[in-house]
Amino acid sequence: MIRINENYLKLKASYLFSDIAKRVSAYQEANPDSPIIRLGIGDVTEPLPQACQKAFHAAIDEQGTREGFHGYGPEQGYAFLREAIAKNDFESRGADIDADEIFVSDGAKCDSGNIQEIFGEDIKIAVPDPVYPVYVDTNVMAGRTGANVDGRYEGFVYLDSTPENGYVPSIPEEKVDLIYLCFPNNPTGATATKEQLKAWVDYAKECGAIILFDAAYVAFVRNPELPQSIYEIEGARDVAIEFRSFSKNAGFTGTRCAYTVVPKSLKAQDAAGNEHSVHALWNRRHCTKFNGVSYPVQKAAEAVYSEEGKAEIKALTDFYLDNAKIVRGAMEGLGYKCVGGDDSPYVWIQTGQPSWDFFDKLLNEAGVVCTPGAGFGTCGEGHIRISAFNSREKIEEAMGRIKDALANA
Ligand code: MLT
Repeated sequence: MIRINENYLKLKASYLFSDIAKRVSAYQEANPDSPIIRLGIGDVTEPLPQACQKAFHAAIDEQGTREGFHGYGPEQGYAFLREAIAKNDFESRGADIDADEIFVSDGAKCDSGNIQEIFGEDIKIAVPDPVYPVYVDTNVMAGRTGANVDGRYEGFVYLDSTPENGYVPSIPEEKVDLIYLCFPNNPTGATATKEQLKAWVDYAKECGAIILFDAAYVAFVRNPELPQSIYEIEGARDVAIEFRSFSKNAGFTGTRCAYTVVPKSLKAQDAAGNEHSVHALWNRRHCTKFNGVSYPVQKAAEAVYSEEGKAEIKALTDFYLDNAKIVRGAMEGLGYKCVGGDDSPYVWIQTGQPSWDFFDKLLNEAGVVCTPGAGFGTCGEGHIRISAFNSREKIEEAMGRIKDALANA
């Protein structure tokens, strides 16, 4: 019989959000008349912005004509979208990124999961704890770790994010090769200042390391002091790759469009010590394994940068931030310590008890789904994450139900 990739056996049997879905289904089967409110997985609920809808429709109409029809596009994305991204997301922030350093894709999950393929098998990797599970699982699948012992894989350097450090991990003592960072953070909602990011950039330079910077939630940053891209930090072009997404700002979770920035100045070496362009490697991988995002979806994404689109996205992200304020206010009102929710759609709550117990309590007694912090790593134990992605009505109802359930506890 054919052999499997045994690295998969080291993984927890299922992905965090599938575990949650199973518990929710079991609850629903047992309580068919109690409607649940989902504040677990960070999936948006509000419709696509009008500007995106119009561009999407128009592009589909074009596809229906001989003159306007588009077959395979450039794997890296159409110039119209890459140029709009470079201008609006980077140039306008003083960050030096060219359109041809941008790779358009169908998701930041895929990109942040796939990027490790272009690096060596025996590199040392630092991952935050708590962490977006994709960073960890994809490296486990690739065989870069040993077994999971007490919730941590042998071989990783874990970057603890705790109440003591304000959920922004410190620079490790040892040298690593690849560093995963995410700000505004998933799951904690914590943000990093320019000084904090500068320290990571300097450390990466010193180690010859590369930072994988996940900025999928940057549209929620309102504090003008906070950086919106790692490339706002001097020197970052030489040490960082950045992931962005249209999912959370423009509601593209079901439409699928994202992008990854790989600066041409980024270098890595082979075993013999010869330097290689990371951009060239990623381009090679991207063109081999990906055929581009559909033309209508890229037109819809381009509309995010129109005047109408920008105004709608500001309103949409403001709406979710107001939800986050309601969540944080309600939980703090009940006496729980919280972070996040001000420049992020996630509120991270200290539960004072095991996080799966608290998850079960909210599910069984309030009919509300959250995400247990322990699912994101050992430092997530004793926390839950509540997502602000839902309608105002559902957020208010959920908070009312949680207040009742916890006040009676
Ligand atoms: C989450 O809930 O953490 C998000 O849905 C992650 C994602 O966007 O894949």
